[in-house]
Amino acid sequence: MIQLHDKQFVPFISAKEIDLAIAKMAAQITADFSDEIPLFIGVLNGAFMVVSDLMKRYDSPCEVSFVKMASYEGTSSTEEVKQLIGLNQDLTGRTVIVIEDIVDTGITLVALKALFESKNVKHFKVATLFFKPEAYTKELPIDYVGIRIPNKFIVGYGLDYDGLGRNLPEVYQLKD
Ligand code: IMP
Ligand code: MG
Repeated sequence: MIQLHDKQFVPFISAKEIDLAIAKMAAQITADFSDEIPLFIGVLNGAFMVVSDLMKRYDSPCEVSFVKMASYEGTSSTEEVKQLIGLNQDLTGRTVIVIEDIVDTGITLVALKALFESKNVKHFKVATLFFKPEAYTKELPIDYVGIRIPNKFIVGYGLDYDGLGRNLPEVYQLKD
């Protein structure tokens, strides 16, 4: 068990399981897009570990960039997606594959999609390591999902609780 700020977390998903899920996603994306040069866009801060490991497993030509958005405060999503940093390159005709650490309500994802809508991209795809189907409130399809999880707050492997826990190589869930 670990303690971050005022809360306790218990082991939930091992580094090995994460590695397997990422290898599978990389293989799927390679099969779908190895005939072009996709632009992977990681969503900071949470996706930094997924992007790193997924890119090491993706063995066709590609580009990688990042954007930054925020809709979370503490352990629950807020309606408003707050900040955005990055993305000043021309995306016309490009296949964009957004890489998320986790899709929860889908608010961030829909905001991202809206952002790319005006950029004349060829394909807009979404890849997320973790997905909470019970929390998802949107219609937007998620093209690549690593691991589906129940509607519980998790930390580790890039995911934080008020700034802590991102460095953990495996995933922990909030102890109830
Ligand atoms: P959404 O906009 O509600 O889908 O939330 C997306 C973002 O909230 C993710 O990119 C994460 O940064 C954060 N988030 C969602 N669920 C969790 C969680 O269980 N632990 C930590 N961060 C989370
Ligand atoms: Mg995030």
